Amino acid sequence: MKYDVEAMRKQFPAMERKINGYPAAYLDGPGGTQVPQRVIDKVVDYLTWHNCNIHGAFATSIETDDMLMETRKAFADFFGCSWEEVSFGANSTTINFNLSSAIARDLKPGDEVIITDIDHECNRGPWEMLEERGIIIHNVKVDLEKCIIDMEDFKSKLNDKTKVAAFNYASNGVGTVSDVKAMVAMAHEAGVLTIVDAVHYALHGPIDVKDLDTDFLFCSAYKFFGPHIGVLYSKKEKLEGLRTIKVKEQDDFAPYKFETGTLNHEGIAGAAEAIEFIASIGETYGSEFEKELKGFSGRRRNVVAGMLALEAYEQPITAHFIDELERIPGVRVYGPPKGYPRTSTVSFTMKNKSPREVAEYLADRGIFVWDGDFYASKLVRVLGLRESGGLVRVGLAPYNTMEEIDRTLKAIRELAEK
Ligand SMILES: Cc1ncc(COP(=O)(O)O)c(C=O)c1O
Repeated sequence: MKYDVEAMRKQFPAMERKINGYPAAYLDGPGGTQVPQRVIDKVVDYLTWHNCNIHGAFATSIETDDMLMETRKAFADFFGCSWEEVSFGANSTTINFNLSSAIARDLKPGDEVIITDIDHECNRGPWEMLEERGIIIHNVKVDLEKCIIDMEDFKSKLNDKTKVAAFNYASNGVGTVSDVKAMVAMAHEAGVLTIVDAVHYALHGPIDVKDLDTDFLFCSAYKFFGPHIGVLYSKKEKLEGLRTIKVKEQDDFAPYKFETGTLNHEGIAGAAEAIEFIASIGETYGSEFEKELKGFSGRRRNVVAGMLALEAYEQPITAHFIDELERIPGVRVYGPPKGYPRTSTVSFTMKNKSPREVAEYLADRGIFVWDGDFYASKLVRVLGLRESGGLVRVGLAPYNTMEEIDRTLKAIRELAEK
């Protein structure tokens, strides 16, 4: 595929920044991507011309109602579901606390919930909180060599007391993509509700909630070119059956029964544009993926094509980065083995240098990478890296280049020699 990264970069004003004379290299995408001009314009347009609350008789309110509906439809194309299955929230963590609190209203002491060691705290904390109500929480182990979920352990923890299984689609700590379809199927066989955290995955591949068959799945638009909002997919009948946390007067049906108070309208307007942006990438590169796109049409087709194109661009750069990193003395890369599904997020440590020292060395050269545990705290702990400052995390986004990765490798090699 001939991917035009320069055309992509031109759409992101932040690419113009310089740090200490170096062009900024935004390899911090797993914490949130940069935003294209069209998304920024959409937020400004909403606040300038349509800013209002909902359900009024006048223009700005009617436009806000329309915008919310249009964004639900855009996310329906993003997830592969109906607009009635799309609810908005502040961010994924808040969404999941509200979800766990609602589900917990129908749980009793002795009921069990499964979480995993590879998950972000967002899909652990809201369930761990239920321990104080007598709910038993089980942690699924991770194969520490391969950084993948121990599927046997997952299976062995499902029993007739299990009510919920919560796990991520991809690890924001080390990039592993899990076989969530198989995990959902195993959980459903045991009559267990599934909650998938797709926050990290959402930038790295198309989501098809109907194919996964999960009951709930959430993601955050700021990880894929949008503003800071969270979005929840719920199977309609599952949300209808839930006693959500809400005021009495609020609509008691999907998707509104999950949404409390006034939403972040400008953020939601921007998130719809982020999806249009992904669809525009699909329009450009869709012809490369005819086989994978069979059966898809309209914006859904373009969204799926866009995600496939971005991954097709990023994966070879990721493979090059890992290969070269592994050659540097004292560097240890953490993540799934070659050939195992993964995102373009790569984490590593360096001998005798803390992750913060590495991140600072790169930052001085205009290279933005994360260090620490990124709230993949349990994983970092079981990997034995907590005391030494966690990991250095480099994440590719569609505006990153091979040149930026080579610049990063050069700086890491220099540092290794110091
Ligand atoms: C895998 C994963 N889950 C959850 C979150 C939390 O998302 P939010 O900040 O929207 O609550 C993150 C953020 O980094 C993440 O990477």
